[in-house]
Amino acid sequence: MASIAVCPGSFDPVTYGHLDIIRRGAKVFDRVYVAVLNNSAKKPLFSVEERIELLREVTRPFPNVIVESFHGLLVDYARSKNANAILRGLRAVSDFEYEMQITSMNRVLDENIETFFMMTNSQYAFLSSSIVKEVAKYNGNISDLVPPVVEEALRKKFASLASRENAANQSNEKLT
Ligand code: PNS
Repeated sequence: MASIAVCPGSFDPVTYGHLDIIRRGAKVFDRVYVAVLNNSAKKPLFSVEERIELLREVTRPFPNVIVESFHGLLVDYARSKNANAILRGLRAVSDFEYEMQITSMNRVLDENIETFFMMTNSQYAFLSSSIVKEVAKYNGNISDLVPPVVEEALRKKFASLASRENAANQSNEKLT
């Protein structure tokens, strides 16, 4: 039986920390589905399509990695892919409680799907998509944190948000 894992997340956007887990997971499992959560309740910076495009670009070197989106329950998506494993990265103790909660819930929902954790490489232990966005927003150097294609996408995204904000401010000034 092939070992198939689902590596779920928001990936808003993908970082070197995520990529480290995906790359190592692709060596352990026959196939890894990188599953981008499509959740309208969250307010992501990048659309699902943009996040998928970036992930496909950066996972191109790994032929057994497939990038898709999912909505609803993760275990339902995993079952639809015949996956017997969920793969998650652990950075620090602070991740543990949240991960334990979702792992326990997933086990209640489907006891046949096992969750596997990989410790993130220590150089990425502090790294998160939120921190990358914060630094990128203020033009900080993120070249060690995300692949060049993601760096470029962040630069463009914040430039377009800033110009939209400027245009809105100007039209507000005209009205007042
Ligand atoms: O990168 P994130 O935001 O920490 O990923 C969270 C994710 C996508 C793994 C989690 O929110 C999830 O699995 N959502 C799908 C809904 C679900 O299955 N919920 C039940 C388990 S809590």
